Amino acid sequence: MDHRNGDLHLSQTSGGTDLDRASPNRTGQRLSEVAFPLVKSGAASLTFSRSMSHASARPEPVERAPANIPRHVAIIMDGNGRWAKQRGLPRLEGHRRGVETVRTITFAARDLGVKVLTLYAFSVENWKRPQDEVGGLMSLLEFYLKKELKTFVRDRVRLRTIGRTDELPANVQKLLQTTMDATREFTDYTLVLALNYGSRTEVVDAARAYATAVAAGREKLNDGSWATFSRYLYGPDLPEPDLVIRTSGESRISNFLLLQAAYAEFFFTPVLWPDFTKSDLAAAIADYSRRERRYGLTSEQLPSPARLAVK
Ligand code: FPP
Repeated sequence: MDHRNGDLHLSQTSGGTDLDRASPNRTGQRLSEVAFPLVKSGAASLTFSRSMSHASARPEPVERAPANIPRHVAIIMDGNGRWAKQRGLPRLEGHRRGVETVRTITFAARDLGVKVLTLYAFSVENWKRPQDEVGGLMSLLEFYLKKELKTFVRDRVRLRTIGRTDELPANVQKLLQTTMDATREFTDYTLVLALNYGSRTEVVDAARAYATAVAAGREKLNDGSWATFSRYLYGPDLPEPDLVIRTSGESRISNFLLLQAAYAEFFFTPVLWPDFTKSDLAAAIADYSRRERRYGLTSEQLPSPARLAVK
């Protein structure tokens, strides 16, 4: 059983473009290219008036993308239940509105220059929710996939998944496969749905696959490098997330991309997922763009953005 959704390789996925420039750890990419991808390409700089990290209020609408855009944004979509409760509605109504936000943010992220968007849509722990909520979420996923297939093809959005998708209902698996097949060729923008996903199960799956490869003589046990092992994680050709956002005011990672987000920037917003807008995303990206990512180095060791810009 291969849970890696890993029939895809770097060359197939990226056609030698953006996704080639994946994380430094996995591909040996130069630090300057990781830390300052858009500064290097001379992207225009805009300033923003207000930081939103752990913000207690919403920012003014901001819809233009700043310089230094995160290539990969990953979102923990939280707060659907509370959104519904505040309105005296059933939890499922919150999830239904959450799906509307998924649709909006998928295209907002692309407009803002993001190349990969990963959404935590269903965790391995979510099976333990009441049966009617789990069933409702699966029905929503089915409805969403049926509705979005044409849109993804028209707008050239590639769909991928991470997680133990082979444990999802058969009809959902089939729709996922159909959508992934129909969008396989698109290289500019990728939407990754984390479904039946958990970092701990991912590590278990990766360790099992790695051990199998060692036993079969395809890997050397004493290699022991992250570059080798990480190829057994889900979606090994995807770039690591640059920015992880969690909505709803909770400051937790909840078993989401624990290894891939080792060097990610985190942004926590009080906005509940059904209320999350393009402006909120732009504010998170603006906040990200002002941060210095050091990857364990000192500021002085980092390449100068000004020097990179004129190269
Ligand atoms: C957390 O809200 C959200 C989820 C458990 C799942 C997110 C699902 C969606 C946005 C809809 C389905 C997605 C797709 C792509 C079809 P919560 O219920 O934990 O909120 P609460 O913490 O306020 O109770």
